[in-house]
Amino acid sequence: MVIIGSDHTGIELKKKIINYLYDNHVEYADVTNYANQEGDDYPDIALAVCSEVLKNSNNLGIAICGTGIGISIACNKIRGIRAAVCTDRYMAEMTRHDNNANVLCLGARLGISKEFRNIEEIVDSFIHSFYDGGRHDRRLSKIKKLEEINIGEEMKYGNNI
Ligand code: RB5
Repeated sequence: MVIIGSDHTGIELKKKIINYLYDNHVEYADVTNYANQEGDDYPDIALAVCSEVLKNSNNLGIAICGTGIGISIACNKIRGIRAAVCTDRYMAEMTRHDNNANVLCLGARLGISKEFRNIEEIVDSFIHSFYDGGRHDRRLSKIKKLEEINIGEEMKYGNNI
């Protein structure tokens, strides 16, 4: 299932993406299905999206803020989340193949969001691309280890985590 949420900047974009998912028979859940207001802060939206994503390993998230950057920083603080800001379909495809990204972050105030066709392509690439595994497993397991590191203690890992 695709879990989608946006702060107040992304209400229109979220609606368009939901219509797109609906038209393409993609199961989704809107976790910010209420009247967003100026006070809807992107870290809260990140938590709402990511906590649902983590309930099922087949879930993917779409998290929207003005640039996609703030919400990606927030999402990536949550253990088990690999969130990627993507501005084209290649980024969306490769972040699934290589990083096994489970949350796509989009910027509602970027030019790409005004041209909905490009966002459609990005969403489509993200939800229809799959993790390649293989050599990427080693790298992702290192990312997992990074989640456990308290800075100051990193020396115990040497040069290679
Ligand atoms: C909210 O105005 C804006 O700061 C937020 O949507 C996002 O762009 C932050 O990165």
